[in-house]
Amino acid sequence: MNRTIEVLPDRPALIARSLELVLSKLETAILERGQFTIALSGGSTPKPLYEALATQQLPWDKIHVFWGDERYVSPDHPDSNQLMARHAWLDKVDIPPSNIHSMPTSHTDPTVAAAAYEKHLQEFFHTQSGEFPAIDVTLLGMGDDAHTASLFPYTEALNVCDHLITVGNKDGQPRLTFTLPLIDASRCVMFIVSGKSKRPALAQVFAPEADNFAYPSRFVQPLGELLWLLDADAGGDISTTTEK
Ligand code: 6PG
Repeated sequence: MNRTIEVLPDRPALIARSLELVLSKLETAILERGQFTIALSGGSTPKPLYEALATQQLPWDKIHVFWGDERYVSPDHPDSNQLMARHAWLDKVDIPPSNIHSMPTSHTDPTVAAAAYEKHLQEFFHTQSGEFPAIDVTLLGMGDDAHTASLFPYTEALNVCDHLITVGNKDGQPRLTFTLPLIDASRCVMFIVSGKSKRPALAQVFAPEADNFAYPSRFVQPLGELLWLLDADAGGDISTTTEK
């Protein structure tokens, strides 16, 4: 595992560094493969990154946006991750609507929605059942409980390894989420973590030994690049390191 932990002095520096890295991966992907694929995380931390991306002059027709998880609410619900990203970024740029691959949340049964999004990914990436496509950048946040995407502690979703998408569960509320193998298939997984409240969870995530089911972010070990971008509030006494 190629893991880098970068601790930035504050949240603006964290967002600036995240933007720099996303733009660098975007340029490489388009040069090498003619397109850039990114999976967005929800929550509050990435919003300023999305706002910064909205100010960039980019080849929007070559950029495809997915979501790593979604609350099972309508796209106009205030909790919708899609709504946040559209307001902060996607509604402000000339990205073709067909390049915005939102998770469906209109099915009565979330498992049907999960299967539909999985099928959509397989068609887009031309992969077969059992294959996990390599998304260029998967952005992730981390909750105070060390969950990531919608992979919460001690939930069934953590055990799903034969699907791309599954139904997560937060306090009985369904969510659609990337599975761990799909996250791990990414060329680059980029955690963006801010705030003192994340310190206890980060201490467990970076501890040599801990229960992965209690701290699900520990499970994320991509074959590609793993970047942990922290601000000093979150990082505390964690120092910037790279492990090859
Ligand atoms: C979500 C996210 C979730 C989020 C973490 C951190 O749908 O809420 O995908 O995994 O990234 O809960 O959230 P904050 O950035 O708000 O701390």
